[in-house]
Amino acid sequence: MPTEQSVTTSAISVRDLNFAWASGETVLDRCTLSVPKGEFWMLLGTNGSGKSTLLRLLAGLLKPKSGNIEIGDRVGFVFQNPDHQLVMPTVGADIAFGLVSENLSYSETRQRVEESLSAVNLSQMIRRPIYALSGGQKQRVAIAGAIARHASVLLLDEPTALLDGENQIDLVASVRDLVKKKNLTALWVTHRLNELDYADGAFLLERGQVIDKGDPIRLKQILLERS
Ligand SMILES: Nc1ncnc2c1ncn2[C@@H]1O[C@H](COP(=O)(O)OP(=O)(O)OP(=O)(O)O)[C@@H](O)[C@H]1O
Ligand SMILES: [Mg+2]
Repeated sequence: MPTEQSVTTSAISVRDLNFAWASGETVLDRCTLSVPKGEFWMLLGTNGSGKSTLLRLLAGLLKPKSGNIEIGDRVGFVFQNPDHQLVMPTVGADIAFGLVSENLSYSETRQRVEESLSAVNLSQMIRRPIYALSGGQKQRVAIAGAIARHASVLLLDEPTALLDGENQIDLVASVRDLVKKKNLTALWVTHRLNELDYADGAFLLERGQVIDKGDPIRLKQILLERS
């Protein structure tokens, strides 16, 4: 009989991951988790528990000390502050710039830009200067960039941290929608417990270890009682 583990396909799988900074400070300590393909999972934990470090390891921006990471080869990363990743003057140019290394024709590039903006409901904004976007719209452009590059896995590090309540819920609901429509897999870091209502599951990280995981509403209750 196959175990439940072996019949579920994971898009992100991390086993016994260890990471320490050059100073010797251990950040991830036998960290183990997996996110099923097509699901939207959240990662919670106190400041300094290792969430951003884990995302950077998953994206290949840092090298682990030991342990195993399995993740699709099309990974999109969305940072807390979109100003750190939008580099071109307009929305369309920014997304197209992210496709430069793919050697696409002009019309293929144009099609990818249009499709990705439509996926995040920003079709009307292709010529809009980046400076004239709200924080939530900038985050959508960053997400569109990942969609245009055909990312199958999205890693989002506190994408709503700078947004007000309305834009926050708007973004989390639309990322969930996108994950389901396009059969993507997403790992979303947050401190905002109301976002757990949109998740398929959640992990709780403490001192670099996953100490609890599963039903997001159960974890929300636990964290609400703690606060
Ligand atoms: N570039 C770095 N060099 C050295 N230490 C770092 C570096 N970046 C983070 N750290 C340390 O690693 C630990 C984990 O940091 P990390 O940013 O992963 O936490 P986090 O869970 O994302 O916290 P937050 O909720 O505040 O974003 C912290 O103790 C932090 O000070
Ligand atoms: Mg962080």
